[in-house]
Amino acid sequence: MKDYKQIIADKINAPLEKAEIVSYITETADDAFGDYAFPCFKLARVMRMPPTAIADKLAAEVQTDEDIVKVEAVNGYLNFFVNRQELINDAIYDVLGKGERYGDDNAGNGKTICIDYSSVNICKSFHIGHLSTTAIGSSLYKIYSALGYKVIGINYLGDYGTQFGKMIVAYKLWGDDEAIRQNGVAELQRLYVKFHQEEADNPELTEQARSWFARIEQGDKEASEMFEMFKRITFADVKEIYDRLNVKFDSWNGESFYNDKMDAPLKMLKDRGIITESQGAQVVDLQEYGMPPCLLVKSDGSSLYATRDIAAAIWRKQEYDFDKCLYVVAYQQNLHFKQFFKVLELAGFAWAHDLIHVAYGMVSLEDGAMSTRRGNVVLLRDVINKAVERSKEIISAKNPELKDKDKVAEQVGVGAVLFSALENSKIKDITFSYDRVLNFDGETAPYLQYTCARCNSIIEKAGMSRLARIAHDPRALDNVETLRLCKLLASFPQAVKDAAYKYEPSIISGLLIDIAQAFNRFYIAHRVLSDNLSEQNARLTVVEATATVLKKGLSLLGIEAPEKM
Ligand code: ARG
Repeated sequence: MKDYKQIIADKINAPLEKAEIVSYITETADDAFGDYAFPCFKLARVMRMPPTAIADKLAAEVQTDEDIVKVEAVNGYLNFFVNRQELINDAIYDVLGKGERYGDDNAGNGKTICIDYSSVNICKSFHIGHLSTTAIGSSLYKIYSALGYKVIGINYLGDYGTQFGKMIVAYKLWGDDEAIRQNGVAELQRLYVKFHQEEADNPELTEQARSWFARIEQGDKEASEMFEMFKRITFADVKEIYDRLNVKFDSWNGESFYNDKMDAPLKMLKDRGIITESQGAQVVDLQEYGMPPCLLVKSDGSSLYATRDIAAAIWRKQEYDFDKCLYVVAYQQNLHFKQFFKVLELAGFAWAHDLIHVAYGMVSLEDGAMSTRRGNVVLLRDVINKAVERSKEIISAKNPELKDKDKVAEQVGVGAVLFSALENSKIKDITFSYDRVLNFDGETAPYLQYTCARCNSIIEKAGMSRLARIAHDPRALDNVETLRLCKLLASFPQAVKDAAYKYEPSIISGLLIDIAQAFNRFYIAHRVLSDNLSEQNARLTVVEATATVLKKGLSLLGIEAPEKM
């Protein structure tokens, strides 16, 4: 694609740096007013003239040519009209030429990004609260990879803490291997809940749990074996979900991996005079920065969540030499991240600024929030299963002839669930509703998948190879619907970059919805399949380009596009 902003900036004869002029040029909201606009009030101070007068003066000086065919001064704006036929053609051929690599870039070549996401806890079920971190983290993984970065996906397992001592006691007292075999983590969680109920009347249990936890820490054989078993059970459970969601990790180094990696960082913090003693505990005072102290070592000598995260950040920097390390974690942990980032900064690590907390909002279900303590969690697996089941009903009703209904239902159901976590700005709290995420006419994944499948079916009906379609009549594309659609298609590569650098996959999902809506308007206004072959061929290129971008965009969100629906 031509860089129209640059071309336009070169035509504006104003006393500003070109880069600054480029930064002020925007796409117009209404193409009746041209394609790009430059706001002249930005020049009022340097040129000492009212914006309307500046606009008139500059407009008179602009040389039109084959790229910029017209310029108008309107209310202090310079409105530029590009050669629209060429824009449409360029957009389509850029997409078709690059195919599934459209939107890829080499901006990240030679750079590494670590993404800490999903980070499940051993012995805890994978519930709907994990949806956002998993969906957002996995999408960022794919987006950064498309931009040429080397990405390290890290599942920072919650595999350390006194709760595992409690689990061992509970398992020894009430463990039922058959129930575990059948129900996996759900059974472990049941044991855990039971432990807490019994513990209230029996403080002896608390003591036993403490001693088992100490044995895990000391690497005692029996304790370690049991702990490994808990891990295996949890993995079996989450692996099934990760496979269905097509989510991958390069490292599973969790909290316990840092058991023996905290002494050196603690010593260094002490040597640099950052740590102070407070009632036997070791803390970093952060009052100056408006935060409570960051507790690093308790008075009994044990470490904390922050201690491990500090050790992990240092280890990751040494191991991967990352450009950025992202933590996709709910906003409830804002303070934790601010605190330990600050501690690393105070310790003199310049790269502390490359640690980014990618915070997101809460998910709740329409029928009321969930509570972990009472044990009635909403399992992600159940949500996915239900979405897939409902997808199957909808698909079967819409298209009874469809082959592979189960496979398509899986792609649609999983897509709908993932999209619900990727459609809004990530910081927003969301309420999950099956009806909404599965609405084929709404702003949903099924709507995108359906539009994509419709494109495929139009192309299939035309029944011609792409080669045979080359001859076409460009006049068939000379209309506002095609123009609007092509402008959106052309903006896709920039949207991929914006999504990466703002850690916001919703920039892509929002554009895809706009594209699908623009396509459907195009499709209503212009007959694609017709006897006029050169007209049909021209419009088929638009259809094919749309399908290509929708499919690519969905893939960056981790969502599959069924060929047929
Ligand atoms: N396992 C933690 C939780 O469930 C999330 C870990 C996030 N990552 C981190 N480096 N602290 O709350």
